[in-house]
Amino acid sequence: MKFLVTGSAGFIGFHLACRLLDQGHEVLGYDGMTPYYDVTLKRSRNEILLAKPNYQFVEAMLEDKPALDDAFARFQADVVVHLAAQAGVRYGLDHPESYISANIIGTQNLLEAVRSWRPRHLLIASTSSVYGGNEEVPFSEDERTDFPVSLYAATKKACEALSHSHAHLWKIPTTCFRFFTVYGTWGRPDMALYKFVDLIERGEPLEIYGMGQMRRDASYVGDLIEAIVRLTDSPPEEGMPVKVEGGKDSLSPVAPWRTVNIGGGEPVPLLEFVDTIERHLGKTAQRIMLPMQKGDVVETYADAALLRALTGFVPTTSIEETVRSFVDWYREYRRT
Ligand SMILES: NC(=O)c1ccc[n+]([C@@H]2O[C@H](COP(=O)([O-])OP(=O)(O)OC[C@H]3O[C@@H](n4cnc5c(N)ncnc54)[C@H](O)[C@@H]3O)[C@@H](O)[C@H]2O)c1
Repeated sequence: MKFLVTGSAGFIGFHLACRLLDQGHEVLGYDGMTPYYDVTLKRSRNEILLAKPNYQFVEAMLEDKPALDDAFARFQADVVVHLAAQAGVRYGLDHPESYISANIIGTQNLLEAVRSWRPRHLLIASTSSVYGGNEEVPFSEDERTDFPVSLYAATKKACEALSHSHAHLWKIPTTCFRFFTVYGTWGRPDMALYKFVDLIERGEPLEIYGMGQMRRDASYVGDLIEAIVRLTDSPPEEGMPVKVEGGKDSLSPVAPWRTVNIGGGEPVPLLEFVDTIERHLGKTAQRIMLPMQKGDVVETYADAALLRALTGFVPTTSIEETVRSFVDWYREYRRT
């Protein structure tokens, strides 16, 4: 099959493209190599993809409509997985424009581009951050998501809404997956696992927010990719909800569109996470305990019943295994 993956030089896009290529599919990667974090890391990921057969790459921004239209129309993918975005919660405090530009204008450009040939399934990355100020856990797809507490969450909620109206109007089956925190090899330098490992290795102190009381539903990237690949085979069908044990399908009543949580449903306390990193590095962290930061939420925790109903799968890799594989990769990557 032909897969178009936006954000292919990013952490999750890279792992997804690797898996699809290794399964023998054809992949077109599309990425603007934005400078949000070290572009060398993005280029290193892309080099690995370029060395595989059946991979093509276009370096361009989502906002570059002619480049996007041209690449998408030429390739005519069976499945489009849209992962390119301005990610991160805290960056939005100082760089609001990049969220509006990438996540809203970029996503709208993509939606318009896919209309020209109508893929079998369009999958779009959303985030658990859309649950915002909700206090009842686990977060379930049929809860309201009207109270975002960061610009990132607000723009991802907008992506969900834009893609819903698009799916209603043009009947292109669309799944918005809500990722919870994702960790693994080739991970993002702005995320806690990379930051903490890096600081402890360099003997520098860790700033631990929320006085260490925060809990995150952390998934291993390999499990996330397994879930995405399985979901590509389950395009939503209007009027055909699936049976969900103890819950209900989030299928729209007026469009072939649904949201799906991808998380393991086992939140990890931040301090236990730091203990695990220390054990695998064989070093002790200097801990600076600080209050919550603007835009952060205390706990994220996925109700994974819909994911299980659609794919027969939920993430199970332990945080122990995730941290071990990350530390091995980090030390190797830093040596080269
Ligand atoms: N990693 C996580 O824990 C997590 C959690 C929730 C949601 N998500 C979502 O999953 C998706 C992938 O996240 P990731 O962790 O791989 O992030 P990432 O930043 O590593 O990857 C995103 C990629 O998109 C590209 N990009 C950004 N803006 C672009 C634009 N305007 N035009 C073209 N390319 C652009 C970047 O260059 C980057 O390579 C994102 O949509 C993110 O919001 C990630």
